Amino acid sequence: MKIGILTSGGDCPGLNAVIRAIVRKSDQLGFESIGIKNGWKGIFDESYEKLDLNNVAGIVNKGGTILGTSRFSPFEKKKGKDILLHKIARENFDAIIAIGGDGSMHIAQIAFEAGLNVVGVPKTIDNDISGTDYTFGFDTAVGIATEAIDRLHTTAESHHRIMILEVMGRHAGWIALYSGIAGGADAVLIPEFKTKVSDVLKILSSRFKRGKLFSIIVIAEGTKFDEKSMAKRKEDIKLDDFGRERLGGIGNYLADEIERRTGFECRATVLGHVQRGGMPSAFDRVLGTRLGIYSVEMVNEKKFGRMAALQANEIVDIPFTEAIGKLKTVDKELYEVAQVFFK
Ligand code: F6P
Repeated sequence: MKIGILTSGGDCPGLNAVIRAIVRKSDQLGFESIGIKNGWKGIFDESYEKLDLNNVAGIVNKGGTILGTSRFSPFEKKKGKDILLHKIARENFDAIIAIGGDGSMHIAQIAFEAGLNVVGVPKTIDNDISGTDYTFGFDTAVGIATEAIDRLHTTAESHHRIMILEVMGRHAGWIALYSGIAGGADAVLIPEFKTKVSDVLKILSSRFKRGKLFSIIVIAEGTKFDEKSMAKRKEDIKLDDFGRERLGGIGNYLADEIERRTGFECRATVLGHVQRGGMPSAFDRVLGTRLGIYSVEMVNEKKFGRMAALQANEIVDIPFTEAIGKLKTVDKELYEVAQVFFK
């Protein structure tokens, strides 16, 4: 059995743990592992690397992906489907394990429908893929964001400032919510629940009245305010390779609005890619390892068109169709846990 392994979409801590686990399990079962470079693009470029026990040694704790990644969408290219099928047949791949986020699972589903033997492994720091309780990368990102909040706290308190931390989270505010609860934020703003700047000002003034001259606000990058003033000019919007808007900057918008409307000194920190790079947490290494091993078992059992997932601490598999389409977002009940502290 010849298995092609690819990582696609934004990188995240834990990818190398998955790759290592796939190669080790494949070796145990006598399968051949081929690394496909830079996501689905590697098939078009015919960029492959044979993987064995030696080239996955010592990578379980390494961030990023040794295979490289991209947001390349084969089916959006001219004759993309034919090229993909032709090149995969020529390489004699028996199965492809695609490790990726929502966009990559969409591609995996289309590839499966086109006749390829594809198995999926979910990854994203955003934790927004349906059908899995957690994705690896998320725990590491939350740890980094929480540490950032802890650090902002001491300087905010010393200078009597309002500090805003902008974290990643395009459609879902999981990182903001978890790090906000863990770091004791005074407000957490996420894309799922629309807010007005005036709602934030109410929280700040209630703290001010209690003698709290500093505040910490955590905001997910995908958060939108109702205010018209935040509308971006079309020419300011940049897109990524999946055609999605490149986010970042909402924290600065909020800081400017707070200063303009209240005169309180307010500073924003955009955590950006710091939360996506570096060593994975132990949790993410273990989750990535379990998913990687399971994905090879799925190949062995010919469970194609399906994604490995974590449900109630068990690794299971679900059809791609269950994982894609609807993102897993923060529900009201959980958000209300954080809201208890917005005062
Ligand atoms: O999709 C995960 C994610 O971390 C999003 O939260 C973020 O908008 C995006 O990746 C940014 O990725 P990049 O900087 O690679 O375009």
